[in-house]
Amino acid sequence: MLGKLMRKKPIVQEVTMSDQIALLKSRKIPAHVAIIMDGNGRWAKQRNLPRVAGHHEGMKTVRKITRTASDLGIKVLTLYAFSTENWKRPKVEIDFLMKLPGEFLSTYLPELIEQNVKVEMIGNFSMLPDHTKDAIRKAMEATADNNGMTLNFAMNYGSRRELVESVQKIASLVAKGQLAIEDIDELEIESHLMTAHLPEPDLLIRTSGEVRLSNFMLWQLAYAELSFTDVLWPDFDELCMFEAIKDFQSRIRRFGSVEGEKEA
Ligand code: IPE
Ligand code: IPE
Ligand code: MG
Repeated sequence: MLGKLMRKKPIVQEVTMSDQIALLKSRKIPAHVAIIMDGNGRWAKQRNLPRVAGHHEGMKTVRKITRTASDLGIKVLTLYAFSTENWKRPKVEIDFLMKLPGEFLSTYLPELIEQNVKVEMIGNFSMLPDHTKDAIRKAMEATADNNGMTLNFAMNYGSRRELVESVQKIASLVAKGQLAIEDIDELEIESHLMTAHLPEPDLLIRTSGEVRLSNFMLWQLAYAELSFTDVLWPDFDELCMFEAIKDFQSRIRRFGSVEGEKEA
């Protein structure tokens, strides 16, 4: 009897969860959601744990939110995992963060494949340690033919660096006579960004109460809707994600015009 009752609860919760997903999907779902996953260190500090324990817990949130985003029909989920400025952190923390992609991907690659998720990365790949590169490369190869959601990790990513590299590529085309200065337009600049093949983010979420971009997708976020929450990344769950999507669906996006379009 007790066993029966205890089994019932998760089923009820699951129905509620899928009902909420269905309700959100009846309105406009952002094609590209980008998340600044922040607050791992504070989560650990609140529990008198080392900062790295917060990063490890944050990895579980990555798993959860990847599944939720995929279930919601989001096409691209970009997760800011390591910035070009994060090299300023203590070596033990950097070493731990560089091991996380390996641990995440070796544990969850089968379920990413099962969910038809395609793993990609933006950022400077060549500066990463070999074991990090190997893990990312392996996951990208194993999921290359998947056509479900793109799970895009921003790893050693910095928007200013990306823009500098884009300017360098354009200057080199001009110097070689392959591009005229008057042909440099927004599309040309975009085509040299690491996100050239992706739609621009419709929604940016940042956790942990910080209200800044920290060198993340400065060009691409020009018209994104911004959603900030005090919840620390390890505590961010499906319901927080639903809340952010609901908030997005209530926004009126004008893109500079007078008539707005509600995301419904
Ligand atoms: C985000 O959590 C993870 C990374 C930046 C890699 P933090 O480590 O920045 O956590 P806080 O901001 O110190 O709480
Ligand atoms: C931004 O978080 C980078 C990532 C989430 C990877 P930070 O914690 O590094 O940002 P700041 O230093 O508070 O701006
Ligand atoms: Mg932080």
